[in-house]
Amino acid sequence: MNLSEFQSEWMPRFDAYLYSELDAYVPSQENLHKAMAYSLMGGGKRIRPLLVLATLSLAGGEISDGFAAAAALEYIHTYSLIHDDLPAMDNDDYRRGRLTSHKVFGESTAILAGDALLTAAFETLAESSVISADKKVKLIGLLAKASGPNGMIAGQMDDVEGEKKTLTLEELKQVHDKKTGALIRYAVTAGCLIADADEPFTTEMEEFSRYLGLAYQIHNDLKDVVLDEAETGKTIHHDAELNKNTYPSLLGVTGAIQELNGVIHQAEDCLDRVALSYGDAEDKINVFRQLLDYVRI
Ligand code: IPE
Ligand code: IPE
Ligand code: MG
Ligand code: MG
Repeated sequence: MNLSEFQSEWMPRFDAYLYSELDAYVPSQENLHKAMAYSLMGGGKRIRPLLVLATLSLAGGEISDGFAAAAALEYIHTYSLIHDDLPAMDNDDYRRGRLTSHKVFGESTAILAGDALLTAAFETLAESSVISADKKVKLIGLLAKASGPNGMIAGQMDDVEGEKKTLTLEELKQVHDKKTGALIRYAVTAGCLIADADEPFTTEMEEFSRYLGLAYQIHNDLKDVVLDEAETGKTIHHDAELNKNTYPSLLGVTGAIQELNGVIHQAEDCLDRVALSYGDAEDKINVFRQLLDYVRI
């Protein structure tokens, strides 16, 4: 199976689930619902849900058992972007080729839509009827850890504070690991947990997701420098304006691309090791190999 086959088979179903969950948890307030839906159904690539589902599939689980965790993760990712774009944060007017939430709905609604997505994530997981109570508690705890003050929020804080100083490459790697890596790692951990994957498999796939997370942020920052606005759907050269620490700002474009390629290579090595241990799964591992194409420049 290749990535696009997996996507066409599963992502429309997942999107329908995502939207129906939104309807279930936000029936009341029209503007809030509109703002949540605007960002949630606004052209995101759905990489994190895809990773949950593809990991489940590779680990031999039932793919639809991952919908609740994948939806919760996408809610949190979406909230993180709404807040990241606010004037007090990165102050971005465009995302995915459209106006950002606060530009369309105003700052207070954008903040509340983000808050609502954050809390709805945990409600969705808690209410899932297909995952055992035991696993739900673990998934909720891990999601809180990945998105909270030891994970994504810590990375966002470091990212903002980094605007006033120059970080070392090692420090920046740590920021990326929390800001972007934590949610990407959660996707793989959740897939493994739901499928009852064994420990060596889980460890190797989590290692893969660590490299993927780093590659994802390096790639995101490179796009800001080397692509145009039609390609990124955002205002470009914005990181430099905000004095952000990025791989391109520390290493230059060529150096950043070299590092990115090295990280992609390490991610591929993880997949090779998984393929060695699970020889009959090459077809499903292929989905992950192709996923790495998203982060190639
Ligand atoms: C953008 O993430 C922000 C980062 C953490 C790098 P994505 O590129 O996954 O965002 P969408 O949802 O596909 O727009
Ligand atoms: C976004 O990081 C990461 C999170 C929201 C957690 P960036 O600020 O680097 O990403 P873009 O450039 O806005 O997509
Ligand atoms: Mg940011
Ligand atoms: Mg930003």
